[in-house]
Amino acid sequence: MHILSEPDVSRIFRSLTQKQCHAFIGVLGSALVGYSAESKPTVPESEKLIHQPLRTVFTTKANNSCIFMPVSDTTTSAVKVVTVGNSGIQGTINIFSPEGRLQGLLAAAEVTAFRTALASMSTLREMYGMPDLHYCFTRTLIRRVTFINRGRQRLDEMERDVLGELRKRYPNVSIGTFAKEGAADYDGRLLSELQAADAIFSCTPSSEPNFKFEALQSAPKQRFISLIGSYKPHMHEIDTETLLSGGARSTLIPNQLV
Ligand SMILES: NC(=O)c1ccc[n+]([C@@H]2O[C@H](COP(=O)([O-])OP(=O)(O)OC[C@H]3O[C@@H](n4cnc5c(N)ncnc54)[C@H](OP(=O)(O)O)[C@@H]3O)[C@@H](O)[C@H]2O)c1
Repeated sequence: MHILSEPDVSRIFRSLTQKQCHAFIGVLGSALVGYSAESKPTVPESEKLIHQPLRTVFTTKANNSCIFMPVSDTTTSAVKVVTVGNSGIQGTINIFSPEGRLQGLLAAAEVTAFRTALASMSTLREMYGMPDLHYCFTRTLIRRVTFINRGRQRLDEMERDVLGELRKRYPNVSIGTFAKEGAADYDGRLLSELQAADAIFSCTPSSEPNFKFEALQSAPKQRFISLIGSYKPHMHEIDTETLLSGGARSTLIPNQLV
């Protein structure tokens, strides 16, 4: 049996080659397509290879919310168990053979972040026909990236841990940050960033839209918008107008992936 802790998983992901990342995007894309195809009411339950019943959630008296997320593609079954408590989020993925033998335990945080990023990338790649962000950065197809956050602290941590390295690697891409906290003209700056943006990635559990449809409409163009933050009905990263404006072109990846 294998047991991979969070640092083990992190080491594996950081050592992946571009080719291996592409393979993962392909695998995830095929799984999503397979799941959609089997979700049609015409497919009898007995013919299905992919099973993903709804998650079970309860909150204990000590205020720990426990979330159980089962899945099987028939050759492998798994249950991700995540607890959101006063001391943050912790989780593990239990992986079983088809007959139910426990094969391994995998710390869940890095895997969840990685597959969520892959899901966003697979639709971006589909829409724009580009292989990956590395390709776009090196060929300067992406010229500017701005990280916007409510608080300053997390951006400072990103500066320290990630952005310096990214700037060194991609010197022709302008990479910046700005925080709502302490900003003199947050709304004006946000508006000009939104007007310029061709792709927007939003990943917050905000219950108020992070920006308004009118802001996008003030510089109308086709934009790629990825929203992965909402996991409860009262959470809204965007307003209804923005959601409906996607029409037939929108691809929704539910916050239900294990
Ligand atoms: N779809 C999926 O499969 C999937 C997978 C993983 C995570 N997620 C979701 O993605 C989001 C980010 O995950 P994470 O692990 O990065 O969480 P995290 O470390 O808790 O970060 C949350 C981020 O959201 C911001 N935020 C929180 N409440 C906000 C509000 N009311 N208005 C505006 N910004 C707010 C925080 O800003 P501050 O720095 O100011 O606090 C922070 O930048 C979460 O909502 C999480 O549930 C989804």
